Amino acid sequence: MIDIHSHILPKVDDGAEDIEMAIEMAKIYLENGIKTVVATPHYFERNIFTAKENTKKILEDLKIELDKEGIDIEILLGNEAYISMDLVKDIEEGYLSTLNGTRYLLVELPMLDIPLYVENVIYELLLKGYVPIIAHPERNAKIIDNPNILYNFIKKGALAQLNLPSLEGKYGEKIRETAEILLNHNMIHFLGTDAHGSIRKSPRVSKALEILKTVVSDDDFHSLTSNNPILLLNDENIRIKEPIKYNAKKSFLSRLLPSKKAEGI
Ligand SMILES: [Fe+2]
Repeated sequence: MIDIHSHILPKVDDGAEDIEMAIEMAKIYLENGIKTVVATPHYFERNIFTAKENTKKILEDLKIELDKEGIDIEILLGNEAYISMDLVKDIEEGYLSTLNGTRYLLVELPMLDIPLYVENVIYELLLKGYVPIIAHPERNAKIIDNPNILYNFIKKGALAQLNLPSLEGKYGEKIRETAEILLNHNMIHFLGTDAHGSIRKSPRVSKALEILKTVVSDDDFHSLTSNNPILLLNDENIRIKEPIKYNAKKSFLSRLLPSKKAEGI
């Protein structure tokens, strides 16, 4: 698996507190079979700590330390960009990092709301050749209430990334349930750990991946864990499955039946 959402960079945001914790996280990644990670520190309005100039330097320093320790892991640069009307400008003026310098940008929404300008931001990014990837939509209160908000964003051209801990119920039952709904409706294209530290939010994924196997088809499992992130890191086009509109009534009925890997609910 490739992790496209990680706060492994030390002393940048609320992720790894120091270089030791970042090294510890790297070891856990390798134990969990993850050899490629995109570091995505929170980006908010040109904050100097999480802007490219700073994160690039911190990543270089971390790589030197990992080399010294003999830890063979690939860490690439990105950001988790808080939604704003300035994202295109911030990329083009060199403040904001897309994922590994590709066309793909990880975009964070507020937890409780969907600002009115989200569609405009998606439109503007796409117009300039960038592809927004909505980070952990299953955690957004409005999308939990109405998964079709995400359906509309995907129809407009956005993609979405699921946090693996959501599948384990680590953020609560509602979010776990939404994670499954989004997966079953072809609304998830990438996975991330959103790991922040070695203990508090660690990059351990084996349990979540086992759960994922019971939720999606083998083909989709392969796309999510491997195919899609590889295409992303190579800045290639990703052909996605048509998203399925969520129908709350139908889903309620389907839950009464013991359906595994339910598609087209
Ligand atoms: Fe994050």
